[in-house]
Amino acid sequence: MAAGKGTRLKSKRAKVLHQIGGKPLLAHVIAAAARIVPAEDIYVVVGHQAEEVRAAVADTNVNFVLQPEQRGTGHAIMCAREQVRQYRNLLVLSGDVPLIRPTTIERLRDFHLARKAAMTILTAEPAEPFGYGRVIRAGSENVKAIVEQKALSTALQKVQEINSGIYAFATGPLLADIDRLTSDNAHHEFYLTDMAALLVKRKARVMAIKADDPEEVLGANTLAELASLDAQLRLRKCQELMSSGVVIYRPDTCVIDADVEIAADTVLEPFVQILGKSRIGSDCRVRSFSVISDSQLSDKVLVKPGCILDQSQISSGAILGPYSHLRPGSEIGESAHVGNFVETKKVRMGRGSKANHLTYLGDAEIGAGVNVGAGTITCNYDGTNKHKTVIEDGAFIGSDSTLVAPVRVGKGAYVAAGSSITDDVPEDALAIGRGRQVLKEGWASRRREARSKMDGK
Ligand code: UD1
Ligand code: CA
Repeated sequence: MAAGKGTRLKSKRAKVLHQIGGKPLLAHVIAAAARIVPAEDIYVVVGHQAEEVRAAVADTNVNFVLQPEQRGTGHAIMCAREQVRQYRNLLVLSGDVPLIRPTTIERLRDFHLARKAAMTILTAEPAEPFGYGRVIRAGSENVKAIVEQKALSTALQKVQEINSGIYAFATGPLLADIDRLTSDNAHHEFYLTDMAALLVKRKARVMAIKADDPEEVLGANTLAELASLDAQLRLRKCQELMSSGVVIYRPDTCVIDADVEIAADTVLEPFVQILGKSRIGSDCRVRSFSVISDSQLSDKVLVKPGCILDQSQISSGAILGPYSHLRPGSEIGESAHVGNFVETKKVRMGRGSKANHLTYLGDAEIGAGVNVGAGTITCNYDGTNKHKTVIEDGAFIGSDSTLVAPVRVGKGAYVAAGSSITDDVPEDALAIGRGRQVLKEGWASRRREARSKMDGK
């Protein structure tokens, strides 16, 4: 169920589109569901901002059902009636309960099938049950009813066990009675939770199973709750990584998205962010204050403090930073160095090449063993078009050179410091592209003399 607006978020964006762990709430729920059943058997009920919600999870290959008006969780299931009829049993998940683990869904399913229940509710006992529907038991496994917060009598407010919003149903009894739901309640909505009492009245079996970890079923109704779920998810991610051999000094300070992969023996220093589809090999070290997005690092890469990497590929043994900015399309070769205040974009840099200081390399192909001196700039843009710079193997670019593209510096060639290179430099040549130095002997002392005469007047 993902059709609701999420009024309590006070946001114009649909709730299930809000992100935790770097992806929409709904994407987490679908990922958990897809571990239990194939994507083609998953139906997402969409309504509020339906098109945006569909687009956000289009890559999961699930089906969608439209709930044109959001008239409650019971109504959401009514809208999916035709689609679910073909299945004997149905698992219902809430798009805003994103920390649910596949193993817990499996436990719910197995319990439901073993007990041959008509409805099984996944419950929990969180420290603070306020705001959730409460599960009123009748005996140890059976349930009498679910009562929403607003309808709780003083006596029932003591009930600690909450409804997670996750259920298993036998489809037959559900569809037989779902039209008996009424909207006679505080929100004038059709509550799916009322199915519990309805089915009990029909003498059908309604049961509950409690999740071991109440944190797993916490809902996100406000931005504060969303932030706390995000923190939990990221801590869980750090714990997974640590248990697989990744060293994380201060996990509470690191922001690592759910889909990030990191191999064993890599070290993450405090305050790093690793986002999106990033992959990091083994024996790497990511030092503090680096932000790595959608990038791939092989093994033994050192990222010194303060680097920003976006859609870049780094080969093994490379050293980056401090303060390097690698923009999309940067491919840094084996054991290459990209140093302080170096910006790269759409660059292929060969094995062992170095650009250690204060440099911009854009739209360039740089061979192996190239030395790019401090302050070098590829002038890749003429105001209309981008042009390419090629620097072949073993070339040496003197400091403070500008390479006006399109231009090629041949194998083993030298560019003198301070040059502005506008023509290709052949292999093994030296190019000097600057004004010659002029010397005026005694000029400074003559100037000083002239000054002191003026002051004397
Ligand atoms: C619901 C349960 C409550 C439970 C809580 C757990 C009901 C009536 N109450 O309350 O017992 O403790 O979840 O988190 O079900 N949705 C639709 N269409 C609608 C309305 C909602 O698809 O018309 C979707 C929402 O997008 C959301 C989910 O259903 O993903 C739950 O809806 P929400 O309004 O958040 O229910 P709660 O008030 O949290
Ligand atoms: Ca909710």
